[in-house]
Amino acid sequence: MTETYVTFQKEGAIATITIDRPKALNALNPEVLGQLAAALRQAREDREVRGVILTGAGGKAFVAGADIASMVDMPPERGLEFAELGLSTLQLIEDMPKPVVAAINGFALGGGLELALACDMIYATPKSRMGLPEVTLGIMPGFGGTQRLARLIGRNRAKELVFTGDKVDAATAKAYGIVQEVVEEDQLMAHCKAVLGRIAAVGPVAVGQCKRSINKGCDLALDAGLAVEKMAFMSLFSTADKKEGMKAFLEKRKADFKGE
Ligand code: CAA
Repeated sequence: MTETYVTFQKEGAIATITIDRPKALNALNPEVLGQLAAALRQAREDREVRGVILTGAGGKAFVAGADIASMVDMPPERGLEFAELGLSTLQLIEDMPKPVVAAINGFALGGGLELALACDMIYATPKSRMGLPEVTLGIMPGFGGTQRLARLIGRNRAKELVFTGDKVDAATAKAYGIVQEVVEEDQLMAHCKAVLGRIAAVGPVAVGQCKRSINKGCDLALDAGLAVEKMAFMSLFSTADKKEGMKAFLEKRKADFKGE
């Protein structure tokens, strides 16, 4: 029987996906990635879910990276397959039209930080340590780290982290723009739920289009990015949520968005 390494819990409009392999500090092997992909698809398909928290079990790590034991004897072609599995799993986060936040309590290293970088926001605790230490193993980031980190914090700061393999603390990660907020350990989940709760109250289709517009548009030239935004803006004018949101404003009442 396969072990369960990823759990899915729903509380109202918020789903929490937990990577639960604490013995290996939640390291990502192909099985864990497969289960994570299934949980992400479940969150995407569930119409009640308006936000997702991604976290790690055990109190010591979010995810300490791709599983080194699985990689040690991998030939290049299997290394490529592994990278493709990791990349496609992380892509599910970027493509999901709902906010996904990473709740980091402890280590987020290598593939673990790469996983967080695919999320929409990252919240961490004072004991968290983050980095891309792949070069210390004689490899490099393979789940999108060189690309997403350089786009997020700029090329040279990303090079400093990637070339040295240094781990930084949460305050430094916040100063670099990797982490949005550092909160005490016992407040981490409540903080993520509060942020997602605020987002769950606004128009879900609109949030999905905002996410798509930022994710797709930011890597384009400005005029192309503006065109992505313009088409997304137009698409919202055919939604019931737009009618409801505007009517509610004019009638001075709270909007009841259905996500349609
Ligand atoms: N893969 C597999 N097992 C891992 C792991 C990983 N990435 N990280 C930790 N573990 C395992 C350890 O082997 C250890 O197992 P045993 O108890 O069976 O020996 C267990 O988790 C606990 O780890 P430590 O004893 O090392 O704990 P520590 O507190 O001394 O150190 C740590 C914690 C600094 C996070 C250290 O475990 C560490 O450096 N881990 C590796 C981090 C790393 O290099 N990550 C990048 C992986 S490569 C990658 O991610 C490629 C990619 O981009 C796709």
